[in-house]
Amino acid sequence: MSKQRIFSGIQPSGNLHLGNYLGAIKNWVKLQNDFDSIFCVVDLHAITVPQDPEKIRKKIIEVAKIYLACGIDPKKSAIFIQSHVPEHAELCWILNTLVKISELERMTQFKDKSAKNKEGVGMGLFDYPVLMAADILLYDTQVVPVGEDQLQHIEITRTLANRFNKKFGETFVIPEPFITREGMRIMGLDDPAKKMSKSAESEYNYIALTDSEEAVRRKIKKAVTDSGTEIKYTDDPPRVDEASPRVEAGKPALKNLINIYSLLSDKKPQEIEELYAGKGYAEFKEGLAEVVVDFLRPFQEKYNALTDEEVLKILQAGAEKVRPLARKKLEEVKKKVGFIL
Ligand code: TYM
Repeated sequence: MSKQRIFSGIQPSGNLHLGNYLGAIKNWVKLQNDFDSIFCVVDLHAITVPQDPEKIRKKIIEVAKIYLACGIDPKKSAIFIQSHVPEHAELCWILNTLVKISELERMTQFKDKSAKNKEGVGMGLFDYPVLMAADILLYDTQVVPVGEDQLQHIEITRTLANRFNKKFGETFVIPEPFITREGMRIMGLDDPAKKMSKSAESEYNYIALTDSEEAVRRKIKKAVTDSGTEIKYTDDPPRVDEASPRVEAGKPALKNLINIYSLLSDKKPQEIEELYAGKGYAEFKEGLAEVVVDFLRPFQEKYNALTDEEVLKILQAGAEKVRPLARKKLEEVKKKVGFIL
């Protein structure tokens, strides 16, 4: 039996952080053993907000290095740059003729991002979920491993796939999201009601994968904690929705820190509670800093050992591998909508 396919991507903008790793990349590394895997650096998505050309060029390579240093194996998975396969933008255009403006206006991430700049919101930002749908549908993707913030975009992808299939006949596979309960929404260290974010104003919101040991220790020391002193994991039922900011009962700041500890050390939250029974927040935070540093050290060694040239070669080979798939699917789509090939 042929393997199921997964597809996912990350924007080359801002500093990739533990949320990106724990919500997405960590799962990719595991899943690549059992799935036919495609991972993309989504540069077309990144320019939906203003970018400096020099910086984005560097970021594209940096994100690919992060994939590789985290354990994405180019022998198992295709890694490529979105703009190297122009079929993404072409399929996006065709899907644009099926999406409703009202559907895009409901996208939480669009509402959040555009709220900061009401007058200056670009068309690209508005259309962002349709490009993401094109990314996914182009490859007959069955499973999309992401963090919780992308669920709404996968839902609209499913809607568009169904709409196309109904109108033009079976063409697209309907994809399913893949998320993990503990990693799906890593919260900001400075505010447990908001997710850890690449575009956060304060660097105390996130731990970047490229942060120094000193920065990690400083940020964890400063991380917000809840009232009380006990190391207790308050496990509210997960709410898979987009309400933001969210307010949780219990100890949301501590829950977030324990989730990070747990995912990086492979210890269960209850084991961590036991480990720190009778000890205070300061000791727990020192332990957490150790766990984070122990994870980042070998990651950064691998990251620093990769050269731009070898990474570019891997990205080019990845594009070669996926291009025929994209071309075939787009041809099928074009025929169905009535174009002459
Ligand atoms: P992006 O670049 O914002 O984020 C990349 C991945 O990291 C996850 N993530 C988080 N997970 C847990 N906690 C957090 N605090 C956190 N912050 C980010 C995101 O959910 C995502 O999985 N639109 C996408 C990129 C994209 C894509 C695709 C993804 C473009 N095309 C096709 C999947 C399939 C985005 O902007 O992700």
